Amino acid sequence: MPEILIIPGSLRAASSARATARAIEARFRDRATFVTADVGLLPHYNADVTDDPAVAAFVEQVGAADGVLFVTPEYNYSIPGVLKNAIDWASRPAYASVFKGKPSFVITVSGGVTGGVRAQAHLKYVLNGMLARVHANKEVLVTQANDKVTDGVLTDDAVLGFIDTEFAPFIDSLS
Ligand SMILES: Cc1cc2nc3c(=O)[nH]c(=O)nc-3n(C[C@H](O)[C@H](O)[C@H](O)COP(=O)(O)O)c2cc1C
Repeated sequence: MPEILIIPGSLRAASSARATARAIEARFRDRATFVTADVGLLPHYNADVTDDPAVAAFVEQVGAADGVLFVTPEYNYSIPGVLKNAIDWASRPAYASVFKGKPSFVITVSGGVTGGVRAQAHLKYVLNGMLARVHANKEVLVTQANDKVTDGVLTDDAVLGFIDTEFAPFIDSLS
């Protein structure tokens, strides 16, 4: 089975993005192995730091994964700093990092009606800058997530069905 690394853009325990990631993991666990990166352990990016164990573990996780699933909210019309920080750590050497050619799937989740569509575009632009292989699919946006997540569980059947349709070909592409 392919191994998929989930990189979340929110550290909140009650995060809607994390709830979305858990829903995907539950629906596809018979077709892929999922590991979630602990991006909250990473220090702020500093090129002088070359021996941080959390950074080394994260870079190793990205390198070892067959594919990466980003599930993130939008912060102030872009991607959260914690997510950008994680990406920056694993982005060197430029154009030859562990992200080069890495199959990647992007989902944005938002409390608002736009579903984080601006963050989605920004994240894909950043991934292009690392020569990652962003999966071609209809954009997966979870809008008004507060109404769709109950007690930490994403329950919206329409959203779950759409995710199934769009995410399954990504897993197929990793085999
Ligand atoms: C600092 C901050 C900035 C935000 N900016 C946006 C935004 O630009 N667009 C948007 O749709 N929602 C924005 N939100 C609302 C988030 O979509 C909402 O809080 C969401 O639930 C956060 O994701 P999480 O539940 O995974 O932590 C913002 C929230 C925070 C805390």
